[in-house]
Amino acid sequence: MPLTRKDLLGLQDVPAHEIEEILNTADMMRSILYANTKKTPHLQGKSIVTLFYENSTRTRMSFELASKYMSAASANISASASSVSKGETLIDTGVTLDQMGTDVIIIRHPMAGAPHLLAAHVKAAVINAGDGMHEHPTQALLDMLTMRAHLGGLAGLRVAIVGDVAHSRVARSNVLGLTAMGAQVVLCAPPTLLPPEIARTGAVVAPTVEDALAGADVVMALRIQLERQQRGLFPSVREYCAHWGIDKKRLALAKPGALVMHPGPMNRGVEIASDVADGVQSVITEQVQGGVAVRMALLYLLTRKGAGA
Ligand code: NCD
Repeated sequence: MPLTRKDLLGLQDVPAHEIEEILNTADMMRSILYANTKKTPHLQGKSIVTLFYENSTRTRMSFELASKYMSAASANISASASSVSKGETLIDTGVTLDQMGTDVIIIRHPMAGAPHLLAAHVKAAVINAGDGMHEHPTQALLDMLTMRAHLGGLAGLRVAIVGDVAHSRVARSNVLGLTAMGAQVVLCAPPTLLPPEIARTGAVVAPTVEDALAGADVVMALRIQLERQQRGLFPSVREYCAHWGIDKKRLALAKPGALVMHPGPMNRGVEIASDVADGVQSVITEQVQGGVAVRMALLYLLTRKGAGA
């Protein structure tokens, strides 16, 4: 069933059957990554632009490789090297890209809502690759893809997300997506890094990291986002690690064989111990692979119906 939406701006309004459709398509796309020749005609004749106003390794590269593997014409604009640094507005940049025949614009921006503003002004399909502290839908989709591949399904899973929830668009999108799919999300963070409105999302807040991890099927650690903090919201990195870091002892409280996840980039020895990040339960490197598959699936599904036409 094709996606009828023009854009993917967040998981807020994406129903379970659409998430399922994206994940099923991503499972098929995954086989292309294992193939000897990574080239398919799915995006032949399509033009894809990544427009990144914030740093990125995984997200930008996986969108770019996904476009190339599927034969699209792809280009990247980084804010510092474009007319954005001359004061051009986001809408003017978007309209310019539209005029050049762009079919999909993938945007990462420090301001929440920037992709929504862009989407309202361009014919191209817009994919949110992370907007400020708001949403990062493709990260949550790749996380769900990885969980599903290992645990068979998402309904009924207990997923513990530990760390800087307040600044995390990854946490927000995962709560929305996983809850829609029938999983239970348990959040744990220092009180200063836990927004009070999170209780309205359907996630449960655990008082301690031990409570959060008890019986968890999945343990996801989040990076401390120092770049988004104006002032110290926890006493010190050492103290953070002692109270909320995921180490072997804490991981033992989760279900045997529980998955260890992290969206990357990791601060080893802060939110996650190195022996946990590299341990047998870790699927962190697999998440990266799922990221390419999910982005291939989305680019295909959003352009198949002729988005932007
Ligand atoms: C995340 C992001 O940018 O929101 N990273 C990613 O996309 N892989 C998480 C982070 O920066 O900590």
